Amino acid sequence: MPAPIISPSILAADFSRLGEEVRAVHNADWIHVDIMDGHFVPNLSFGPDITKTVDGITDQVLDVHLMIEEPEKWVETYAEAGADCIIFHVEAVADEHAALALADKIRGMGVRAGFSIKPNTPIEPWLDKLEHFDLALVMSVEPGFGGQKFMPEMLDKVRTLRAAIDEQGLDTLIEIDGGISAETIAASAEAGCHAFVAGSAIYKQADKAAAVEELRQLASQ
Ligand code: DX5
Ligand code: ZN
Repeated sequence: MPAPIISPSILAADFSRLGEEVRAVHNADWIHVDIMDGHFVPNLSFGPDITKTVDGITDQVLDVHLMIEEPEKWVETYAEAGADCIIFHVEAVADEHAALALADKIRGMGVRAGFSIKPNTPIEPWLDKLEHFDLALVMSVEPGFGGQKFMPEMLDKVRTLRAAIDEQGLDTLIEIDGGISAETIAASAEAGCHAFVAGSAIYKQADKAAAVEELRQLASQ
């Protein structure tokens, strides 16, 4: 199994010290950037300008999670802002055809394409479309807020995805987002995740780099 990817979510960072907060997780593989529009989810976060600021601070992979309506109108903006991976929600696009067209568009810009699914959205309709995506992001909380409780039943979705990816011989990454901590990361890795978003579990610690390392160790076991 490839080395786990740890992606700290800056949603949980102290925005008054954003530069320091990004540098504090210098040993993380990716940086997770949560974009919320107040419509697709009942919360607002930040947009392309902050994404660009973060891109200017670090060379780490920017893992941009779009929790917005009409993502097709925004992917170019986020690619220009420095996104290395753009993840949109399947619930935010018109249909499966639109999702595949959007994935192709993202890849066409030289950016990795990901889709995300909310806890109540079934994964089955997407299992024969995985080759269009570099990454599948399973939400293990309702999107919109950091600091929520992990939903262990989402690991069934991860296992279903893992089996489909392996059967088809694909290298699509499975990422999990929401409530990932020292208590939940090992079970997520065992179910088949390779990439792990963590907000509060990293940013609420005094030593953030040590928190990243601890999560990586627990995911590797
Ligand atoms: C939730 C966001 C998550 C959030 C995770 O809608 O997509 O990325 O920042 O925060 P924690 O790790 O605190 O659950
Ligand atoms: Zn996220």
